[in-house]
Amino acid sequence: MESLKVHREQRKIIVTGGAGYIGSHTVVALARAGYHPIIVDDFSNSHPYVLEGISNVIGYTPDCYQINCRDLKDLNNIAKDHPDIQGLIHFAAYKLVGESVKEPIKYYENNIDSNINVTKFCLEQGIKSIVFSSSCTVYGEPDKFPVSEEFPIKTAESPYGRTKQIGEYFFEDCIKAGLPLNVISLRYFNPIGAEESSEIGELPLGVPNNLVPYITQTAIGIRETLTVFGDDYPTPDGTCVRDYIHVSDLAKAHTAALDKLIFESGDDSSLEYFNIGTGRGYSVLEIIRAFEKVSGKKLSHKIGKRREGDVPMIYADPSKAFKELGWRAEFNIEEALEHAWKWELKLRDLKLKKTG
Ligand code: NAD
Ligand code: WQD
Repeated sequence: MESLKVHREQRKIIVTGGAGYIGSHTVVALARAGYHPIIVDDFSNSHPYVLEGISNVIGYTPDCYQINCRDLKDLNNIAKDHPDIQGLIHFAAYKLVGESVKEPIKYYENNIDSNINVTKFCLEQGIKSIVFSSSCTVYGEPDKFPVSEEFPIKTAESPYGRTKQIGEYFFEDCIKAGLPLNVISLRYFNPIGAEESSEIGELPLGVPNNLVPYITQTAIGIRETLTVFGDDYPTPDGTCVRDYIHVSDLAKAHTAALDKLIFESGDDSSLEYFNIGTGRGYSVLEIIRAFEKVSGKKLSHKIGKRREGDVPMIYADPSKAFKELGWRAEFNIEEALEHAWKWELKLRDLKLKKTG
């Protein structure tokens, strides 16, 4: 919408974790939409190459501060350069479910402290609009499908999942207290894929935990065989079902959320939740077949034991996001897997060294 683009122009948005997987795609989406993104990242789980990749897509290198969000003084210093910030998207967090079980302190310390700090920063700088990165993990193992936003929050399976729940409760309490904030919590389902141009994508450090990077690394020969975690679940083919969302679609949901916060919020404090998924579930075996089709490669895989903490099935009812944000997913599963594969091929050529 061209007129909205004019209104967005010059509006500066802080993107914490903006050098990460979802953050970098969101920086691209914001810039394309006419916003002025400013990255804040400590590069603990990202690579400086991402700035080059972003620049190749949007035509300039965005402002970037290498800062830990746990440092309020450093955050406030950004406002000296940019006294006119209009919104903040908070991605910065650690996200490995298994690691969080082994190292809960690391996760509580980083994810909770960062959350509190960026909120204090917003309050001190008079920034009202915040988008928070939440996760479908807050729903635990749902009883019905598809999952809508009114579904109950269940006991988290991991310290990571709990930090996301605490994040949401934290904002709920801030709003109850009447703090001058308008917050949208986006509950992402399973982000996959990469920018269509293959300039940016996911940079999993070490052995990937997630299905799609494990598939692409197996197909390219970095891993020998993909293990399918269980085929005895109560699902149509026995393997787990998830709602895989293209990361560029997910990125656009952040622009839509900011539009709502900046242009539609009244004087009252507010907090809203939105599911960001496609509304369609795919099993692990369906994903393997779809990947084989788009890549033209046979994927070496075997059936293994269930992975602890996996829920059999989860997929979103994304209708609230469509009704209230005007957002819905546009890429289909084949396109998402094709872009993931093209990115894996690009990564092979880039030969980036691990820095995190
Ligand atoms: P990511 O690790 O690629 O990106 C996170 C970025 O934050 C990294 O660049 C990292 O260097 C940075 N960071 C971490 N702690 C920081 C700190 N204290 N200060 C400054 N920078 C810091 O992860 P992602 O996949 O892009 O996820 C982004 C957000 O979305 C996270 O909050 C994650 O929990 C949430 N989320 C991710 C998924 C997923 O499957 N990827 C699903 C649901 C929710
Ligand atoms: C998808 C499916 C596995 C790897 C995780 C986090 C969640 C959110 C998104 C942050 C599952 C199966 C996987 C493999 C497999 N992240 N699988 N072999 O577990 O749905 O969600 O990422 O908020 O919090 O838990 O995603 O990609 O790990 O797994 O069979 O080698 O693929 O069992 O059914 P998951 P995933």
